[in-house]
Amino acid sequence: MNKNIQRENTQSTKIFDHRSLANDYRTLVPLLKKGMRVLDVGCGTGAITKDIANAIGPEGSITGIDNTKSFIESGQSTYATVSNMQLLHADIFKFEPEDRFDLIVSARVLQWLSNPLEALLKMKTLLRPDGILSILDYNHTKIEWAPAIPHSMRQFYDTFLKWRSNAGMDNEIADHLPELMATAGFHSIEVFNSDEYYDRSRTDFQAKTGIWSKVAGSSQMVEEGYLDDDLRLLAIREYDAWVEREAVSMTMKLKEVRGVN
Ligand SMILES: C[S@@+](CC[C@H](N)C(=O)[O-])C[C@H]1O[C@@H](n2cnc3c(N)ncnc32)[C@H](O)[C@@H]1O
Repeated sequence: MNKNIQRENTQSTKIFDHRSLANDYRTLVPLLKKGMRVLDVGCGTGAITKDIANAIGPEGSITGIDNTKSFIESGQSTYATVSNMQLLHADIFKFEPEDRFDLIVSARVLQWLSNPLEALLKMKTLLRPDGILSILDYNHTKIEWAPAIPHSMRQFYDTFLKWRSNAGMDNEIADHLPELMATAGFHSIEVFNSDEYYDRSRTDFQAKTGIWSKVAGSSQMVEEGYLDDDLRLLAIREYDAWVEREAVSMTMKLKEVRGVN
């Protein structure tokens, strides 16, 4: 693995490790019942997966899959004692388990796929009849910062959305999910607001708002000709200063969309 990817994976591991069911997938909590058999698609390092494992109890079981090996290895080592959870290095499009699941969850994953409908169709084949699919994802075009972020980071962010869109990713996937799920054949579709709101009263305010400096830390968009490296470095400097001195809040717009098989 090249050094850039390794560094970015290490940073992502830290971000994913701090996630929890209560803070980062809160609308799912009422759905979880003891004894359920659950699949978590794109589980990262398994932090949310482990909380779901606790909620469904020892009579339930959860499988987390992720196609990034280092995330799965990190989770396997951190949560080795969680006996009703298994973490597997697997790609959703190639995953062929023996049994069907009562519930499939997938948080912040479809935003990265150029073929989200195919992913929903694949997940549908892994659900038992009447099983439930829950997808949690962003609308990146609706993010709110107060006050406005520096112009350099605004330019970086707009370029990031263009880069994503050119790569086939849907920046507004949260708002397209109900229609996509209906197209995939799910019924009884429900939508829950799951916005992530961060203000200075939170101890993790700097870590959460600082995510955009980390995204700008990657030189991939420079290498692909989308961005001048000076602008990227300026965006990091000015945004870090904004987080430190001026930032009041950041709201990332998310929805949980649920459907029945
Ligand atoms: C932003 S992370 C979300 C991690 C975790 N669900 C959370 O909410 O913290 C997205 C994850 O999806 C995984 N992923 C992307 N495409 C995938 C695929 N085709 N099959 C399995 N996992 C995938 C990535 O490796 C990454 O760990």
